[in-house]
Amino acid sequence: MLLSVENLEVKYGNIQPLHGISFHVNEGEIVTLIGANGAGKTTSLHSICRLAPPEAPRVIAGDIKFRGESILKTSPSDVVKNLKMALVPEGRHIFGNLTVMENLELATYSREKGADLKQEYQRIFDLFPRLHERRQQRSESLSGGEQQMLAVGRALMTGCTFLLLDEPSMGLAPRLKYDLFRTLKRLNEEGMTILLIEQNASLALHLAHRGYVLDTGEIAAEGTSDELLGNPDVKKAYLGG
Ligand SMILES: Nc1ncnc2c1ncn2[C@@H]1O[C@H](COP(=O)(O)OP(=O)(O)OP(=O)(O)O)[C@@H](O)[C@H]1O
Ligand SMILES: [Mg+2]
Repeated sequence: MLLSVENLEVKYGNIQPLHGISFHVNEGEIVTLIGANGAGKTTSLHSICRLAPPEAPRVIAGDIKFRGESILKTSPSDVVKNLKMALVPEGRHIFGNLTVMENLELATYSREKGADLKQEYQRIFDLFPRLHERRQQRSESLSGGEQQMLAVGRALMTGCTFLLLDEPSMGLAPRLKYDLFRTLKRLNEEGMTILLIEQNASLALHLAHRGYVLDTGEIAAEGTSDELLGNPDVKKAYLGG
């Protein structure tokens, strides 16, 4: 097991968004966490990435383990550098006044000095040819879909083997959603482990191997994607009947 979240309870001040949730991700899997607005999806991701407050909440009970060892004391930069986990945050958070290339370069801060990254840029431009065409363009002038590609590309430039994505399909036209999800599938086939947070449950479950349904800070259902797609409660609440 690569990542396990065990009976995790967290708080922001007096607000407790997670009430003892447990889930896990095996190496090479795509796992999705689906749920409505405010269910605690982003909170779960931020807890795993060990972001500093105020983004990340305080852990009051339970544990988060990477290959069986607690990472509650691991710094956010060590999560990227040593555990090779990279977050594609909600809303992308790219630097609009920098070019595409500069945004990608910034993400290499955690890499070894002098590492030859030419092939890695090539890999990203292979996955997203549009980024190559726009590489000298200021990022704020990219379309929403292109910005999302850049956010994924930037995470890949950290050299991650485990990608955590927070609602990557948000705001994208259907066609671009499918393109992005196809790219995620390809990355997974090349060995990338993926934890995908999504409100679009149908899209997420068609990509993922397994999933968990998060409902107001608790795991309400879990199973293989096929099991969840066939679960009457999940259908009714998240798949439009
Ligand atoms: N920094 C914060 N301080 C206080 N409360 C927070 C903070 N971040 C989130 N919350 C609260 O925690 C709960 C879970 O929020 P979270 O952002 O994890 O939900 P979500 O499932 O990602 O929702 P969405 O689909 O809208 O992104 C919400 O009630 C939210 O108001
Ligand atoms: Mg969220």
